[in-house]
Amino acid sequence: MRYLDMLTRLGIGSAHPGGFAATLTQFERYPLPAGGRILEVGCGTGRTACYLARLGYRVTGLDLRSEMLGKAAKRSAAEQLDIEWVEGSITALPFAADSFDVILAESVTNFAPIPDALGEYYRVLRAGGKLYDREVIALPHMPEPSRQDLSEFFGFDRLYTEDGWLEALAATRFARYEILERSLFDEHLGEDQIKHPDLQQITDGSAFLDPALWEISLRHDELIQQHQTELGYALICAVKG
Ligand SMILES: C[S@@+](CC[C@H](N)C(=O)[O-])C[C@H]1O[C@@H](n2cnc3c(N)ncnc32)[C@H](O)[C@@H]1O
Repeated sequence: MRYLDMLTRLGIGSAHPGGFAATLTQFERYPLPAGGRILEVGCGTGRTACYLARLGYRVTGLDLRSEMLGKAAKRSAAEQLDIEWVEGSITALPFAADSFDVILAESVTNFAPIPDALGEYYRVLRAGGKLYDREVIALPHMPEPSRQDLSEFFGFDRLYTEDGWLEALAATRFARYEILERSLFDEHLGEDQIKHPDLQQITDGSAFLDPALWEISLRHDELIQQHQTELGYALICAVKG
């Protein structure tokens, strides 16, 4: 079992640094354009997409994993929300060019070759459209072997530093880009679940009986503790000219 298998089986609703609290703060600080067409890539179980649809946005959620999308579809059905769920990869988005006003990513782009994903985000955004991407980053002093260990555990294609992200953004044709926020890594999923419980979380019935799941969970906590002074996250924003 790998990290993403664990998230899928548990049906974790806000599996990104800062959790749902960070998502809510982001939308307060950086409001999305009213009536805009939003693509949430790597939408997982669809919690953020459903939140936005409830606010009246037109939302499409895309993910590579059909099991994630199955849970997302149950969530939107339970909330009677009209959301288009699409199976696909961020490296080959199944949408026409210039389709979306906003692309949201919450701990997703790291899982694929980042330059390829950025190129696809650029292509499907409309002129003036914005990418908001919250990702785990390596702080500059993280040694290469640690970057490799963490990438291997999470299943990242590669763990970039902030400078690595800025270089990748510069190499894409975005008119402007910046790091809006940066912080030490703080997942605090347990605390987030208490403050913002996910009432539509769907956990596979047998998940907690599988020792492999507990092993991954423990390894996750160990790795985060071991690298806590070297791991961060960034909220990246890029605008298509
Ligand atoms: C860490 S989870 C985050 C899920 C969701 N954004 C959230 O915050 O709960 C990463 C998600 O990215 C998806 N993913 C990984 N690689 C992908 C790819 N190449 N294209 C689309 N989705 C991908 C996974 O299936 C998973 O749902």
